[in-house]
Amino acid sequence: FDSEYDDCWLRYDRAESDRLDTYRRLCTHAYVSDAGPELVAVREELRRGLGGLLDREPHLWHHPPRSVEGFLAIGGPEELRPISETVDPEEVRALDDDGFLIRSVEWEGSDCTVLTAPADAGLVYGTFHLLRLMSLGEPIDDLDIVSEPANAERIVDHWDNPFRRKVERGYAGPSIFDWERLPDLNERYADYARLLASVGINGISVNNVNTRIPGREGANDATSEWEGWQLIESRNLEKIAALAGVFRRYGIELYLSVNFASPVLASDLDTADPVEPEVAAWWERKATEVYDLIPDFGGFVVKADSEGQLGPYDYDRDHAEGANVIAEALAPHGGRLWWRAFVYSEHDDRAVQAYETFEPLDGEFADNVTVQIKNGPIDFQPREPVSTLFGAMPDTDLGCELQITGEYTGQGVHACYLVPQWKEVLDFDTHADGPDTPVKELLADREGQGIAGVGIVGDDPNWFGHYLLGSNLYGFGRLAWDPDLGSEEIADEWTRQTFGAGDAGETILEILMESWQASIDYHTGGIGLMHMMYNGEAALENHYDPAPEEWPEYHGATEEGIGYDRTAAGSGYAGQYREPIAARYEDPETCPEELLLFFHHLPWDHELEDGTTVVQRLYDNCFAGVEAVEELRDRWQGLEGEIDERRYRHVAERFDEHVLQAKRWRDTLCAFFYEHSGIKDEHGRPPAV
Ligand code: GCU
Repeated sequence: FDSEYDDCWLRYDRAESDRLDTYRRLCTHAYVSDAGPELVAVREELRRGLGGLLDREPHLWHHPPRSVEGFLAIGGPEELRPISETVDPEEVRALDDDGFLIRSVEWEGSDCTVLTAPADAGLVYGTFHLLRLMSLGEPIDDLDIVSEPANAERIVDHWDNPFRRKVERGYAGPSIFDWERLPDLNERYADYARLLASVGINGISVNNVNTRIPGREGANDATSEWEGWQLIESRNLEKIAALAGVFRRYGIELYLSVNFASPVLASDLDTADPVEPEVAAWWERKATEVYDLIPDFGGFVVKADSEGQLGPYDYDRDHAEGANVIAEALAPHGGRLWWRAFVYSEHDDRAVQAYETFEPLDGEFADNVTVQIKNGPIDFQPREPVSTLFGAMPDTDLGCELQITGEYTGQGVHACYLVPQWKEVLDFDTHADGPDTPVKELLADREGQGIAGVGIVGDDPNWFGHYLLGSNLYGFGRLAWDPDLGSEEIADEWTRQTFGAGDAGETILEILMESWQASIDYHTGGIGLMHMMYNGEAALENHYDPAPEEWPEYHGATEEGIGYDRTAAGSGYAGQYREPIAARYEDPETCPEELLLFFHHLPWDHELEDGTTVVQRLYDNCFAGVEAVEELRDRWQGLEGEIDERRYRHVAERFDEHVLQAKRWRDTLCAFFYEHSGIKDEHGRPPAV
């Protein structure tokens, strides 16, 4: 970008010389159809992208050029009429909405690269795809690409609060959205939309799911100036409409988090009871008002009956009744309601709760409701088992909620590439429909289903807090488009576009690939413990520093043993899985070691498969985690002089802090394990001596 913030993976450096001639021959000229707002974005991106990659100004045509050796042709099958014989329009119309086709053909003696799609959004995604191929130095002279997203919905959920632009669990500065100045726009919104569209995102929810946070700073009362729920008020909708106008050009629909009690908060009704006709009428009027302003509005996101947010339980209604009244108001406009499953029930074990609440309601939700389920039953831990709900609601549209921001994985300080974690979730075989029913298949190819990721960007010049964490936003989009892509493949794409090809890229790729396991090891001991994070009030330390003593209910440490019994004899969570998974988790002999203490409370000296005891494995993994981080830091330091000083130094400084923090985790956990078990580390390492 031409400004003070980083251009991430859209650098568009001049192509390597072995490709430059071909790229210039095929792409210096581009015939782009004139339709819709997305085509304006396509033209702008070509100017920037080709301008950089070809190191020359491209010629953009309104008709096919005849005097050239090669050209690009971009438009819908109808708009490309002058060269209509090159691609069968029926084939194009048969693609999914956001899909696209790129094909190398010949037209009147020229080499023509046709990029076409059934809808204009597909042209945006296709344009970024083609530019990516060139940024990666791939050949483009014999293309035959048909690409359709596996997931219909690919959404980033911002947890941004209007008040002081604070981002809940955001570690990259204030909200990227300047709520005070909106509807005035700034250029960065479009650049953000470009980053998202370049990886295939098609939705963005712009505000925090906590639309009212009583007791928080600035969240004084229902009339305070800047609560999230107020964005739905008529006077604020123009802010949303202005943002929608920016994102629309990139094929991205806007969503808003709304409060379940909006009819009370934003009008003079005295109830939000979903069965009251006046409540339904209020939601209908509100939806109509929103759609009059923003005809392609995506819909609403709701967090209800959870952590202080009101919900249907306040009116003795169930979650389907609560969701459906809002969904029915959105339905005539084609809108969708994302209803979060992050709720609590009476059960002591938090893991059991979402399933208890939602599984009995399968089939009860309106057609335009998506139940949005966190990947695991606890809360975005470094590693969790996959939520039992994915395999339990065949008659409900489901969305998987992942966290792109690193709330529990070192926030904006630790390098932790999360794509391998997400792949583990998406590849998990639920057995919902017999063997081989992975989560990704349950979500795929169904309108209204997909993946939502809790946003990571803020107003910092580098967008992400830690430069390497840009790989997570990149990877989130790529994986949501195609969950079959490999973690390494995605990391490699990101690295090469961000840092260029060459030796530095190899090293950075290795750093990314090893970072998640290291994080699991020093944050948890690597065999299924979790959530031992400090939960104090200080913003930065919250969920960042180690505090195992604070959370006996999560780790279950006693003098005899450690872990949480979630078998039939305990909370029964293991039994919520389909067979044969339930049986596998139920038995400590067959439970995978990396989840062992999530499902079982075991004696400290319980022997694992290789004869090592539980407590010794915890020590070993904590030490291994720190060694791994030291190794990552050393590798990064080896890049001094290989990459630009600014990015080198930023990440080097983060790694110094990362190593310190990993050691703090190791030392705190090992001391804690020793204190409870009384068993020394057999290698005599401090502090458990
Ligand atoms: C986590 C997170 C909260 C968030 C909540 C949610 O608990 O710490 O900040 O509000 O998840 O997903 O609703």
